[in-house]
Amino acid sequence: MKHFTHLRDLSLSTISSLLARAGELKAGDKSHVMRDKLLGLLFMDPSLRTRTSFDAAAIKLGGQAISLDVGGSGGVWALEYLDNVIMNGDKPEHIKEAAGVLSQYVDVLGVRAFSHGEGLASDEADRVINAFRKHSKVPVISLESAREHPCQGLADMLTAYEHFGDLKNVEIALTWAPHVKSLPRAVPNSVLLTAASLGAKIRVAHPLGYALAPEVTAEAQRLADQSGGKIDFHTNQASALKNAQIVYAKSWGQTDALVAPPNDPSLSSWMLTDAHFAQAHKDAKFLHCLPVRRGVEVSHEVLDGPHASVLQEAGNRLWVQMAALEYLLS
Ligand code: CP
Repeated sequence: MKHFTHLRDLSLSTISSLLARAGELKAGDKSHVMRDKLLGLLFMDPSLRTRTSFDAAAIKLGGQAISLDVGGSGGVWALEYLDNVIMNGDKPEHIKEAAGVLSQYVDVLGVRAFSHGEGLASDEADRVINAFRKHSKVPVISLESAREHPCQGLADMLTAYEHFGDLKNVEIALTWAPHVKSLPRAVPNSVLLTAASLGAKIRVAHPLGYALAPEVTAEAQRLADQSGGKIDFHTNQASALKNAQIVYAKSWGQTDALVAPPNDPSLSSWMLTDAHFAQAHKDAKFLHCLPVRRGVEVSHEVLDGPHASVLQEAGNRLWVQMAALEYLLS
C-alpha cells in the first residue's frame, strides 16, 4: 500500500511525473479516480488552504471528503499516539483504534499534526503521522506533519516551474523570516527537499541558531547529489538573495530549543521588503506557503507587488493534491 507523508515516499521520477500530471489536470484534463470513494481529513491543527483544497480535490476527482477536527467540544476524541502508555490523561482514544476504525469508512486518510516545538528529535520522529501510517489500512497522505508538508513543497515547485520551466539550475533563496511565534520547520524542510530533488540551486538563509535539522539537510544533499542540484547555507540574507529567481520566505523556530522560545525581536530586519528584491533576479517571484503576517514576515508592498506569486502558489495546492490522490489510488 502506498502512503505519501514524506518526500522520500516518492522516487525522483515520480516527483517529476506528479508535477507533470498536476499541470495536465490544471490545463483541464479530467480524472474520476475517486468515483464512489471517500477522503477522510483529520485535522489536529487549523487550516484554510489544506482543508479546502483537499475537499475540492476529492469532489473534482468524483468523490467526497469528510473533514474531522480532533479535540474541542465539536471534534473527534483527542488521540494518544504513544505505544504502551497508561491512558489516564486527556486523550481518550488511541490512534491504533482511530486509524483502524476510520480505515473502514474512507479510502484515503489525510492527517494534519503539526510539530509542537519539542525539538528536532521529536520533529524527526514524526510520531503522529507515522502512527497513522502504521495502523491505517488505507493510504495515508500528509496534510502537514511535524517534519514535512510534502503537498506544499510540490505546489511550490509547480509554481516555480510555471515561471521558469525545468528547475535544474533555477536559483531559489529560502530565507528565514521574523514572526511573533516560534513556528515549525515542516514547510522550509519540504521546500528544501522538493527543490533539491528537482535539481535547483538552493541557498538557505537564516540567522545564527536557526539552522534546519541535520537529518533534513543531509537528506536534501543526497537528493541534490542525485538530481544535479546544489545547496548552500548562509547566515547573511543579502548574499543568499543575490540573483535569486525564487525568493521563498518562511519563519521557523530556533534549532536547539526543547520547548520553542519566542523569536528574537532584534531579527526584524529579516522581514522581506522591496529593497531586498533589488538584489534578486529582475523577474524574481516571491513565494510563501500562507498564512502570512503582513508587516512582520513580509512587507505589504512585496505581497501586493509584481514579485508576489503566493495566490498562484496556493491555487496549485489543488492540482498537486489531485495528482497525489490519483497516484495513491492507482
Ligand atoms: N499553507 C497551508 O498549509 O495553509 P493552511 O494552514 O491554511 O492549510
